[in-house]
Amino acid sequence: MGKITIAIDGYSSTGKSTVAKQLAKHLGYVYVDSGAMYRAVTFYAMQNGLITETDFNKEALIYQLNKINISFKFNEALGFAEVYLNGNNIEKQIRTLEVSGFVSKIAAVSEVREQLVEQQQQMGKDKGVVMDGRDIGTVVFTDAELKLFMVASAEKRATRRYNELTERGDSVTYEAVLKNVVDRDYIDTTRKDSPLVKADDAIEIDNSNMTKDEQFSKVLQLAIMTVEGL
Ligand code: DC
Repeated sequence: MGKITIAIDGYSSTGKSTVAKQLAKHLGYVYVDSGAMYRAVTFYAMQNGLITETDFNKEALIYQLNKINISFKFNEALGFAEVYLNGNNIEKQIRTLEVSGFVSKIAAVSEVREQLVEQQQQMGKDKGVVMDGRDIGTVVFTDAELKLFMVASAEKRATRRYNELTERGDSVTYEAVLKNVVDRDYIDTTRKDSPLVKADDAIEIDNSNMTKDEQFSKVLQLAIMTVEGL
């Protein structure tokens, strides 16, 4: 059976990674969380003193880009690949509200995007990949056989993210999480380079009122139909 490329884009916290992981597992494909790569660069910038409370040293970050090595390693127990920065597993550190609060600004830097897009294209060159992000169907894999665009109300998304963060012990308020979701939507959709936009040939999935199972059976059906139609 031929392999396809599945591009999943959409707003933050729309459950892209959940459905992407489910699809990859079911199809035996590689899952790549492209957002984790932008988060890894943000984490690097934080660790190396390139970020102040409200701003960051763009020139220094661009200068240091060649020192940032991002890789993924499959974790059998978790069932997905975790992200590594210069050999260190940073999967947990990149999910904090602090990183979430800054990542959209870092992701707006063209030089950062250029480097990460090239790496993403390399990772997907043999197909059989499910990649989620903001520009996968519009920039990274414009010829992906299946493109999905996920949407859900900001309140639903904030509730999901809030539950996720508090379940793992982070002390955050719902209001702070909602603000982060709304702020990121704004920056992601209005940036000059590769703004978040639905590709013309993407299928929109609004999961505001869908269970995870309903959503998965819908996208799996789309993936199977796409593979069969090759
Ligand atoms: O999917 P996520 O929330 O982990 O993504 C983190 C940030 O990275 C998000 O605010 C926008 C940016 N991003 C991007 O610009 N392009 C991608 N392909 C993936 C993420």
